[in-house]
Amino acid sequence: MHTVTLNTGRAMPLVGFGTWALRDEACAEAVAAALRCGYRLIDTAQMYRNEDAVGEGLRRAGVPREQIFLTTKVCSPADSYEGTRQQIDAALRHLGTDYIDLFLIHEPYRDAPAMYRAMQEARAEGKLRALGISNFSAREMEAFLRETGEVPAVNQAEAHVFYPHLDLAAACAERGVVMQAWSPFAEGRRHLFTNELLSAIGRAHGKTAAQTALRFLLQHGIPVIPKTAKPARMKENLDVFDFVLSAEEMAAIGKLDGGRSLFGWYE
Ligand SMILES: NC(=O)c1ccc[n+]([C@@H]2O[C@H](COP(=O)([O-])OP(=O)(O)OC[C@H]3O[C@@H](n4cnc5c(N)ncnc54)[C@H](OP(=O)(O)O)[C@@H]3O)[C@@H](O)[C@H]2O)c1
Repeated sequence: MHTVTLNTGRAMPLVGFGTWALRDEACAEAVAAALRCGYRLIDTAQMYRNEDAVGEGLRRAGVPREQIFLTTKVCSPADSYEGTRQQIDAALRHLGTDYIDLFLIHEPYRDAPAMYRAMQEARAEGKLRALGISNFSAREMEAFLRETGEVPAVNQAEAHVFYPHLDLAAACAERGVVMQAWSPFAEGRRHLFTNELLSAIGRAHGKTAAQTALRFLLQHGIPVIPKTAKPARMKENLDVFDFVLSAEEMAAIGKLDGGRSLFGWYE
């Protein structure tokens, strides 16, 4: 398993499994299949309304808990100190676990510092291991650091070939925060999977456009959490460590960067 070391000293897999839009039995089966095929990071969120199904998938796969890196996120209407405390206990119950490896504030809520205090307390109680944020711009992250006096482990943000968000990745790296990419395929927007450049570069390495898109982010030091419901694609998306994009290929793919979110974020 290829990993990055967080500022907590713990390792986080570079490729994880996203579960947005997976629900119920399909979600449980996908999570179990992903773990069986080698994923060791599962990403969920209170907002996805699938923590129960993710928990069922974890049990079904039979992989020892200590080998799994589990991420979940707290969102509105639990965007307060008390709401976050309750949400942490609910997440543990739903996921059927007694600790969460990475707990994120889903968006830059006004009460994020108070939410973080609840997370720090839960960490002291052994319920959470690493704490982080999601969708914080560099400016919002700096304000958050000032208010909390602590550097979070991760800032999960939109990043894909059409918006690799390298400025935010650099701002995070400067602070010792790992920027992790959500929607690393841009959900397939702009025909990413048949993009001519990605397909041609991929072909030269015996890889697909999807694998090339993930490799581009990884070579920029950005971990990824692609989602797929299909076992063949789970394998494909994990199989990105046996080739290297050249500097020229990285530069060519870098030209796809439109400098703007495809989802209307960070504006
Ligand atoms: N923090 C946040 O605010 C935030 C926001 C968005 C997402 N996320 C997290 O990031 C994860 C990933 O993002 P996402 O689910 O939005 O989108 P994504 O991973 O960019 O793309 C998923 C789409 O790509 C398809 N796909 C996956 N692998 C493929 C392959 N090898 N070839 C062709 N098609 C492929 C999937 O279809 P099939 O399932 O049919 O294969 C699905 O339609 C989420 O699941 C979630 O955990 C976090």
